[in-house]
Amino acid sequence: MSATVLVGSQWGDEGKGKIVDILSEKFDIVARYQGGANAGHTVMIGEKQYILHLIPSGILRENVICVIGNGVVIDPQALLEEIALLESHGISVDGRLFISQNAHLIMPYHKLLDSISELGEQKIGTTGRGIGPCYIDKYARKGIRIVDLLNRAELEKKIRINLKEKNDLLQKIYSHEGLDVEAIVKQYLEFDKAIDKYIKDVPAFLNQALDEGKSVLLEGAQGTFLDVDHGTYPFVTSSNPTSGGACTGTGIPPTRIDSVIGIVKAYTTRVGNGPFPTELTDEEGEKLRQIGAEFGATTGRPRRCGWFDAFLVSYSKMINGITSAAVTKLDVLSNYEKIKVCVGYELNGRRLKTFPTNVEQLNSVTPIYEEVDGWMEDITSCTSYDDLPSKTKDYLDFIAKHSGINISIVSVGPKRKQTFWVDR
Ligand code: GDP
Ligand code: IMO
Ligand code: MG
Repeated sequence: MSATVLVGSQWGDEGKGKIVDILSEKFDIVARYQGGANAGHTVMIGEKQYILHLIPSGILRENVICVIGNGVVIDPQALLEEIALLESHGISVDGRLFISQNAHLIMPYHKLLDSISELGEQKIGTTGRGIGPCYIDKYARKGIRIVDLLNRAELEKKIRINLKEKNDLLQKIYSHEGLDVEAIVKQYLEFDKAIDKYIKDVPAFLNQALDEGKSVLLEGAQGTFLDVDHGTYPFVTSSNPTSGGACTGTGIPPTRIDSVIGIVKAYTTRVGNGPFPTELTDEEGEKLRQIGAEFGATTGRPRRCGWFDAFLVSYSKMINGITSAAVTKLDVLSNYEKIKVCVGYELNGRRLKTFPTNVEQLNSVTPIYEEVDGWMEDITSCTSYDDLPSKTKDYLDFIAKHSGINISIVSVGPKRKQTFWVDR
C-alpha cells in the first residue's frame, strides 16, 4: 500500500502539474482532493503543452487511472470541455476517469456570485470560477452534488429551491435581474447523460486499490498559503490544499498516507491580492516574471514575483508534514549574480520565532535576507544533480537548510526530461 500526497508549498503555481506528470509514471492512480477549475496545472510533453484544470495531471499517462474526489467542486461544463480537449489530442478518459458521487457541482449562480461579490470592498482577486460560493453552499448544506445527477426529479427540485433563494439575493442585494430557472434546469438535466458513466464510490474504490497493493498519488491544487485554515486568510481559496485535505477530500484515512511531497518554486509567486513579504514590485520583479513566464495558467493574469522565502516554506513543511521536496524553476535564477533568500521576519524590531499567518502582521513584517552567489550559467540541459554547477548546489543546500526540507527532485525546465532525482 502506498498513498502519497503532493502539495504546493507556497501560493500555488509551483509546478505541481509537471511533477505529478513525472511521478505518475510510478503510480497506478492519481486523485485530486480539493479546489476546482480555479487550478491550472501545466504539463509539457515534447513540444505540446496541456493545461489541466479539473482532471488530475496523471491523465496524460495512458496506464494511470484518475479520480476526482469528494472534496473537489466540479463545474460540469468545464469538465466536459476538458474531456473533449483531451480527446481532441487523442487522449481517451473512458474507463480511467472516475468522479466521486459526493463532489459538489458548481452552478451558474456560483460563478455569477463569485464575480459580483468581488465588486465589494475586499477584493480577493479570485479566478471567478465560482469556487467560494460553491463551498459556501456545501457548508450551508444547500449544495447540489454529483449524486443528484442520478435522480432527475430530486435534481430539478434542488435547483428550483436554490435558484429561488439565489435570485432573491441577486435581485435584492446586488440589483441583478436574476437567472433563468428553466434554462438552468434544462442545462443540468442534460449533464446527467454525459457524466453518469464517470460516477463512482471513490472512498471504496481507493481503499480497495490500496488493499490490493496499488499506489495512489493525491494531487493538491493551489498551495499551502491559499488554504482557508492555514493560509493568509481572507486572501485564500475556500478549500484545504494542505495535506490534511487529502484525507477528507478523498476518503483515504491518515493512517494510509506514507509520504508528503512539497512542490517548492525556487523563488516565490502569488496571483491575486494579499500579503507577500518578499514581493519585488520594481523591475527586479518584472525580470523574474519575464524569465519565469509568470502569467496565470487559468486566467492569464501576471503573477506577482519575489525572492525565495525560506521562513514561509518552513511553515509549509510543518503544516503539511513534507517528507521530501521537489524544487522547480531553478533555471529561472540562472541570470543573477547575487540571489536573495528570506530567512526570517522582523516585526517591531524583533525577529519572529513562528510564521505569522495573520494578514495585518504579515503586511508589517520586514524580511531578513541573506545573499548567496548566483551561478550565471545555463542549467536547462543538466540531466543529473552532478551536472549542476557547484554554486547551484550551494543555493539548493542553502534553501533546504533554512526551510528544513529534504530536496529529492530538481526541475530545470518545463519539459519531462528537464527533471532529475537527487540521490546524495
Ligand atoms: P501548477 O499550478 O503548480 O501546476 O503550476 P502552473 O502550471 O500553473 O505553473 C508552472 C509553470 O512553470 C508552467 O508554465 C510550467 O510549464 C512551468 N514550469 C514547470 N517547471 C518548470 C521549470 O523547472 N522551469 C521552467 N522554466 N518552467 C517550469
Ligand atoms: P494552481 O492549482 C495560484 C488564488 C486566486 C485568488 C485566490 C482565491 O494552479 O496552483 P478562488 O478562485 O480560488 O476563490 O481564488 O486564490 N488561486 C490560485 N493562485 N494558483 C492556483 O491554482 C490558484 N487557485 C486559486 O488567484 O488569489
Ligand atoms: Mg497553476
